[in-house]
Amino acid sequence: MALTDGASLLNLLDEMQNKKRFQELNWSGTFNDYLDVVTNNPRITRNSFQRLYDMIMSYGTEEFEDAKKKLIRYKFFSDPSFDSDDAIFGLEIPLMRLVNFFKAAAQGYGTEKRVLLLHGPVGSSKSTIVRRLKRGLEHYSHTDEGAMYTFSWFMGNLPEDGQLPDPSKIVGVREGLEPEWEPCPMHEEPLHLVPPEMREQFLARFNDGRSPEEHVTITGDLCPACRYHYRELMRRYDGDYTQMIRHIRVRRLIFSEQDRVGIGTFQPKDEKNQDSTELTGDINYRKIAIYGSDSDPRAFNFDGEFNIANRGIIEFIEMLKLDVAFLYDLLGASQEHKIKSKKFAQTDIDEVIIGHTNEPEYRRLENNEFMEALKDRTVRIDVPYITKLKDEIKIYERDFNGKKVPVHIAPHTLEIAAMWAVLSRLEEPKKANLTYLQKLKLYDGKSLPGFTEDNVKELRKEAQREGMEGISPRYVQDKISNALVKFQENGYINPFMVLNELESGLKNHALITSDEERLHYRDLLSVVKEEYTEIVKNEVQRAISADEEGIKRLCANYIDNVKAYTQREKVVNKFTGQAEEPDERLMRSIEKKIEIPDSRKDDFRREIMNYIGALAIEGKTFDYTTNERLHKALELKLFEDQKDSIKLTSLVSQVVDQDTQEKIDVVKARLVKNFGYNEQSATDVLNYVASIFARGDTTE
Ligand SMILES: Nc1ncnc2c1ncn2[C@@H]1O[C@H](COP(=O)(O)OP(=O)(O)OP(=O)(O)O)[C@@H](O)[C@H]1O
Ligand SMILES: [Mg+2]
Repeated sequence: MALTDGASLLNLLDEMQNKKRFQELNWSGTFNDYLDVVTNNPRITRNSFQRLYDMIMSYGTEEFEDAKKKLIRYKFFSDPSFDSDDAIFGLEIPLMRLVNFFKAAAQGYGTEKRVLLLHGPVGSSKSTIVRRLKRGLEHYSHTDEGAMYTFSWFMGNLPEDGQLPDPSKIVGVREGLEPEWEPCPMHEEPLHLVPPEMREQFLARFNDGRSPEEHVTITGDLCPACRYHYRELMRRYDGDYTQMIRHIRVRRLIFSEQDRVGIGTFQPKDEKNQDSTELTGDINYRKIAIYGSDSDPRAFNFDGEFNIANRGIIEFIEMLKLDVAFLYDLLGASQEHKIKSKKFAQTDIDEVIIGHTNEPEYRRLENNEFMEALKDRTVRIDVPYITKLKDEIKIYERDFNGKKVPVHIAPHTLEIAAMWAVLSRLEEPKKANLTYLQKLKLYDGKSLPGFTEDNVKELRKEAQREGMEGISPRYVQDKISNALVKFQENGYINPFMVLNELESGLKNHALITSDEERLHYRDLLSVVKEEYTEIVKNEVQRAISADEEGIKRLCANYIDNVKAYTQREKVVNKFTGQAEEPDERLMRSIEKKIEIPDSRKDDFRREIMNYIGALAIEGKTFDYTTNERLHKALELKLFEDQKDSIKLTSLVSQVVDQDTQEKIDVVKARLVKNFGYNEQSATDVLNYVASIFARGDTTE
């Protein structure tokens, strides 16, 4: 294909652009037009909590059971259709609490008057959750379902025909540069333009005959700037509302954090330097000169974080670092849904207020008196670390996958790192004989002999603070990155490289407070190393015995013998042609691999023959892969037979004869093809497993 040129690229952009969509998003109309829109779709007047809740629900839910507990997964948090880098995995219970908070607030049950505070250990995804909610709202505002509107004032004289120019066509209107146009600085709901004394009758008429879900309410009054324009125009038209309202141009409101529309973020700087103007806006000194007074709303920028986040969401990063005076502002804002800008009366706001703080910070203030006031007015939701291995692995697979890193990551590398992180978060199992690793497996949905789902439920219940301490995903992410950088030249990393990074970082980990803790984390590193060893031993065994022909031959041989045995016949030796007794040693050596005792061998053999017989009646032949136990037994036996012929252990001695080398290459190729290794990582693993076998440490 020819290289692209500028013209063809431009062409591509032209094809991709969606003019209809653009027009929809840039819709604008008169107040009258807007009333028509509301009549057709009253839901566009939802408040910020309702909109946020509906946004989350629009992605759907799924129910599932975990340790006998019914849980709901809100797909929004992990939906791959947008911002997949900020997907949240696991954490179903805290997310359910979060969504329930929004649900209650959407229905006006009182939580809308509380500050929502996400609280948890460092790196537990508090910021990510809020970021995702913000991005979700931005997205939603682009959809038909999430459409909402606001307005601008035209303060000039109306043209002869009374037709207002379309402000969306005028450059600078939204930025407030076009002097005759005054956009509402807080992008209010246009229904605020219905004067308070007329609302009751207006709504009675509007809601008449509509179902309760379609009922419209109007909450809050115009902001100080709009009140000013309203009064000005009413004066101009001698109190004629109809004339006044012709100066209004309604338009679609699209959220954008970048443009500071509907999405706000407040991050406290150092304590002495906090200034309320950042939250509620500031005097525009240049304009005071024009308008002559600092209480003229035209000389004030209503561009504090609370102002611009109106209709959407405002995030308070490290909320507890806020100056106390600010905190009371914040609590007032959530309780009354009002803010106060300098020199102006209280202003109504409609926005979701969500803060977060980490556990150390929270604990630092635990005994502070203002915390009492705070606790009373906030709903705290604990966001712990993940305690389910599967979910933790997803974090690292998202961050370090083939698309993002050019370096090969050996199989199990991320899994082992995740395993260590999760282990570090588990509370010591109270049950005797249960190890940390076993607990982890139970949580991960594996079954262990002697443990029921009820036990797992109990385990979860007895560990109240589980997940609130331990190693954060951020620490693990950093160490994996380090390993990737360090071994870039090698072209790959393996679990040992990452484990070494994880270990060496422990020395100066800022959040580890005691030697005891450090020791515990080191112990857990040994635990995961052992587990890794088991995993790869198993894998190499499987790779060695993944010789299909070999298994088939072994299987045929076994079946011949079993058949002869059950029918009390002899087996014909293929080489000598002689009839011989069934080979008991061969049969037992296979059966022992899956722990079939002598006393049960007859049953087992008969079962297999019955099965084969039943198949034969249907005209089918037996395939060992359909019998899981037999399959495993055959694999293990084949491995045992081949282990010595492959002389894996000779790898350690570095002198390998050609025959062995060929066999090893076959195994290596299988590791690459079936298990996701590359040449180097497969070599590593073979060497490692060989060294273990060399130590005489053979497994079943
Ligand atoms: N449950 C999870 N699902 C997906 N990613 C997670 C999860 N928990 C943590 N992470 C990842 O861990 C990293 C840290 O998350 P984040 O910055 O949101 O934490 P935080 O709770 O805000 O931390 P801090 O208290 O230090 O501000 C991010 O890369 C995030 O994606
Ligand atoms: Mg954070």
